[in-house]
Amino acid sequence: MTTNPQSRTQWLGRWGFILAATGSAVGLGNIWKFPYITGEFGGGAFVLVYLACILAVGVPVMMTEIALGRRGRGSPIDAIRRVVGESGRGSAWSLLGWMAMLCGFLILSFYVVVAGWSFSYLWKMLSGGLAGSSVEEMAAIFGANNESPLNLGFWSTLVTVATMVIVGKGVQAGIEKSVSWMMPGMVVMLLVLIVYGMFSGGFGDALRFLFSFDAGSLSSEGMLAALGHAFFTLSLASGAILTYGSYLPARASIARTTLTVALADTLVALMAGLAIFPVIFANGMSPSSGPGLIFMSLPLAFQAMPLGTLFGILFFVMLSMAALTSSISMVEATVSWLCDNKGFSRRTASWGTGIVLWLVSTLAMLSFNVGADWTLAGKHFFDWLDYLTARWMMPLGGLGMVLLAGFVLKSETFREELGLSAGWHALWLFMVRYVSPLGILVIFVDALGITRVDFALHWPWLLAVLVVITLVGELTSPRLRRVLCP
Ligand code: PHE
Repeated sequence: MTTNPQSRTQWLGRWGFILAATGSAVGLGNIWKFPYITGEFGGGAFVLVYLACILAVGVPVMMTEIALGRRGRGSPIDAIRRVVGESGRGSAWSLLGWMAMLCGFLILSFYVVVAGWSFSYLWKMLSGGLAGSSVEEMAAIFGANNESPLNLGFWSTLVTVATMVIVGKGVQAGIEKSVSWMMPGMVVMLLVLIVYGMFSGGFGDALRFLFSFDAGSLSSEGMLAALGHAFFTLSLASGAILTYGSYLPARASIARTTLTVALADTLVALMAGLAIFPVIFANGMSPSSGPGLIFMSLPLAFQAMPLGTLFGILFFVMLSMAALTSSISMVEATVSWLCDNKGFSRRTASWGTGIVLWLVSTLAMLSFNVGADWTLAGKHFFDWLDYLTARWMMPLGGLGMVLLAGFVLKSETFREELGLSAGWHALWLFMVRYVSPLGILVIFVDALGITRVDFALHWPWLLAVLVVITLVGELTSPRLRRVLCP
């Protein structure tokens, strides 16, 4: 049984989609990962490359996903099947939808564990569990938090339940309502932290750390990290954006919407950097890597400042909210597929998904304690989930999506959905046909270990390849000729 796509729920307010999609995009990826990798891969130079990746790959892929969702008015599987059917192509392309749905689900199974850290630290802040601790004690607290499966399991279960409660309430009452206060609230809290940072004495160092341009620090690894992070941070190829797009009213402009979300996501990432690093530098700490950055150093820094507990509470409330608005978007594809195809109510679909999710995420959570030794090829379950989704499923899904849009579907589909002027449409087509696929293929070449593509060194070659494949592609494609010579 498939419900009528025309009667599909839509976002209530003008800002419904933008808030929800921004809520999905802005998450743990922005708040701890972006500032840290920016520092590691060359500061300002990395930021520039990251911005280029967002524009050249992220924005075209996001526009494609929203257009597919709105055109197909369904979960990724149903939407892609419908849109492909419209162009008279085989339904095998709906495999892309299956992969996206699975990808969102798998990301969430480890994301709830990290979000659980955030919730547990909020509790520690509130209950005074972090008071008076030294650097060593902080590290021990972080370790102890992970060591007990009951403790860690409690927090990730809480995140799972919260996610499912919101998703179960539905698109308008659950998702739209919650993000409409969570997102602005988060921005306000970030601003408060930035203003505090300005007076903390570490602001100048933070600015230098984030925006100093050192071209020599542009490594191939940094470029690849920037490209990979562009996918993750914009929630692409994981069903989230496509499904949210399926609730987008017909009159909304996809290009404008996409640019707004991408800009908001980037601004929040930069703001997070400006909020976090002054605190780190003012307290004489060095920006350390990964989860440690926030969970070990920040509580310590908050203790050293006036009103630190209050700021610490604000910070972890903000991080937990950002994580939650991303979590809900990761299961929306699955829940909407179950409702449309299996006749489940939203509530039943949410709880059913939640139970399976809980089982998988419990396995991921055990990687930090009793299951630390259950490894395969040196990675435990948590790492495998991260590796499979970020390294393989997202780039592969993104590649499929742009190839589908660029070469398989009738050009009217996107001409109508995107509603761009001829010039902008040609630019979008050039991006999805050549620039985005080439960029994604470079990630694969690197991931497969075939060769390290050193962008700083090889960019003339890459440019030449781009020109050649564009020429070959355009000469052999009668459709683009029609676009260019209407
Ligand atoms: N964009 C989210 C973040 O930056 C993560 C995410 C990935 C959300 C995939 C939805 C889908 O944390």
